[in-house]
Amino acid sequence: MSLRVAVVGATGAVGSVMLRLLRERGFPAPEIVPFASERSVGRELDGGLVVQRLADDTIRGFDVALFSAGATRSREWAPRFVAAGAVVVDNSSAFRMDDDVPLVVAEVNREALDGHRGIVANPNCTTMVAMLPLKALHDAFGLRAMVATSYQAAGGAGQKGIDELVAQIAPLAADVRQLCDDGAAAAAKVPPPPLSSAASSAARPWHDCAAAGDPRDAETNAASASDDRAGRRITNWLHAAEREAPQRRHLGRGRIRKGLP
Ligand SMILES: NC(=O)c1ccc[n+]([C@@H]2O[C@H](COP(=O)([O-])OP(=O)(O)OC[C@H]3O[C@@H](n4cnc5c(N)ncnc54)[C@H](OP(=O)(O)O)[C@@H]3O)[C@@H](O)[C@H]2O)c1
Repeated sequence: MSLRVAVVGATGAVGSVMLRLLRERGFPAPEIVPFASERSVGRELDGGLVVQRLADDTIRGFDVALFSAGATRSREWAPRFVAAGAVVVDNSSAFRMDDDVPLVVAEVNREALDGHRGIVANPNCTTMVAMLPLKALHDAFGLRAMVATSYQAAGGAGQKGIDELVAQIAPLAADVRQLCDDGAAAAAKVPPPPLSSAASSAARPWHDCAAAGDPRDAETNAASASDDRAGRRITNWLHAAEREAPQRRHLGRGRIRKGLP
C-alpha cells in the first residue's frame, strides 16, 4: 500500500504532530502534502515539506486527507477533498454529530467505518483517550453510566495557547516566591494574552469556562460542547452494541444505528 496524504492544518499544534508521527512511524506515504492558511503558504516545515494553498487544483489526487484546521475549514474543504477522490479523517467538531458520518475510535468501534461516504470523524482528544480504558472496562464489567469533567491544557487552545503559556513562563519563573506571596503582582508581569488567557483558565473545566463566558474563541467552546455530545454518542454506541451481543463483532453500521436509543 502506498498512499498520497494531505495534512490540512499542518502548521498547527495538532497538524505538526500529525506530520511528525507520519514520519516517525514510517506511514506508507511516499508523498505527504501540508496545507494551511494563506499566512503560511510557501513556508518550509521541518523535514523540508512546503505548505500549499487550499485550492481546487491543489487538492486533487489524494488517497487520504487528515484535517485539523478547525470546523469551518472542515465544512468547506472536506467535501471538496472527497469529491476529488480522497477519504477525509476529520479531527474537528464539524461532523462529529452528523449521523451520516461515522465517529470512530479505531480500538473501540472500527466496525462503524463500514459504508462510510468519504468522511470519517474522530472525537476530541479528551474523549478519544478516555474511550480506550473505558472500552476495556466496558468489556470486562459492562459500563452503564459515566460522569466526566475534563481539565484542558493550554495546548487545547492550539498553537496560540502554547505560545501564550511559553511567554508567561520566563517572567513568572524569575521570582517564584512572588507567585506565592503576591499573585496579582506576578500576573501583572506577564504579557497580556493575545488570545484569551487560555493558559490561566487551563485548570478550569470546560463547562465552567463556557458558563463564565470565557473569551476563548467561539469555535473552541462550540467544539467542547460538541465533545460532550460526541462522548455520549460513542457511549450510546457501546450500549447499543452491548444490547445486541453476542453478534456484536459482526454487526454492520446500519444494524448498530437501529439499536441506538
Ligand atoms: N489542540 C488540541 O489539543 C486539539 C485536540 C483535538 C482536536 N483539536 C482540533 O484540531 C483542530 C486544530 O487545532 P489546533 O490546536 O492544531 O489549532 P491551531 O494550532 O490553531 O492550528 C490551526 C491550523 O489550521 C490552519 N488554518 C487556520 N485557518 C485556515 C484557513 N482559512 N485555511 C487553511 N488552514 C487554516 C492554521 O494555519 P496557519 O498556521 O497558517 O494559521 C493551522 O495550521 C481544531 O478543530 C481543534 O478543535 C485540537
